Amino acid sequence: MKKKKMHAMIMVSGLLLGTQALATGEDPAMLAHTCAGCHGTLGASAGDSMPIIGGQPKAFLVQTMKNYRDGKRHSTIMKRLAKGYDDAQIDAMADFTSKQPWVSADQKTDAKHVEHGKILHTSKGCAGCHGATGVAPAPNTPRLAGQYSEYLYLQMKDYLNDKLTIPSSASVMRGMLKGASDDDIRALAEFYASNK
Ligand code: HEC
Ligand code: HEC
Repeated sequence: MKKKKMHAMIMVSGLLLGTQALATGEDPAMLAHTCAGCHGTLGASAGDSMPIIGGQPKAFLVQTMKNYRDGKRHSTIMKRLAKGYDDAQIDAMADFTSKQPWVSADQKTDAKHVEHGKILHTSKGCAGCHGATGVAPAPNTPRLAGQYSEYLYLQMKDYLNDKLTIPSSASVMRGMLKGASDDDIRALAEFYASNK
């Protein structure tokens, strides 16, 4: 009954699903549906500090969910949520989420901040991994372009706070951002946010 109801909801929201039942008997879209309350339908989040996840690379989504679950990446909410999923479920959700279109956030940015951020992005060497505009070529690296600037700012605050656990994939940024002021990380966040 519950399953039937979920399927009806998914059909209504226009998701044309094949019967991609997993070995566990669960549907990846159904699993991902639990995320919609915060991350928006198909991962296109509507909130400032809630990141857009639809269209992020699969490898990044898998590593992030496991890092949250295993306590390797500081979080406020995601650790508790991620604990409910095993590797197969994480893989299925990440696969589904990564195949959704990326929808850049509709947000205002300040031209002066954006310009300052662009200079820092180049001079600090961020472009080496994140590309010229914040769309990374490597699958373990998230897209920054069009992400909520508030979210990006908060992540960089975490990198700057030595007391917080960040994944090994982020430790290089902790070093690179050392000494960056609050204005600098705001500017970087706004530069990425301004790129669509
Ligand atoms: C109650 C709200 C809420 C729900 C439900 C939720 N998330 Fe999150 N998510 C957050 C918040 C807030 C963050 C930022 C990290 C933190 O503080 O927990 C986040 C961060 C993330 C990130 C990191 C994205 C990035 O670019 O760094 C991923 C991936 C993610 N969530 C996936 C999921 C998946 C998959 C689900 C469904 C199983 C889900 N979330 C359900 C609130 C939520
Ligand atoms: C060596 C490659 C590399 C370099 C150089 C690099 N990054 Fe990253 N960046 C990553 C990876 C990988 C992640 C994902 C970390 C994780 O697994 O949580 C990331 C994540 C981020 C995030 C969080 C995005 C999210 O959705 O959670 C921000 C913001 C960011 N980088 C900004 C920067 C800035 C600013 C610089 C320059 C000071 C920089 N990065 C330099 C590889 C890099």
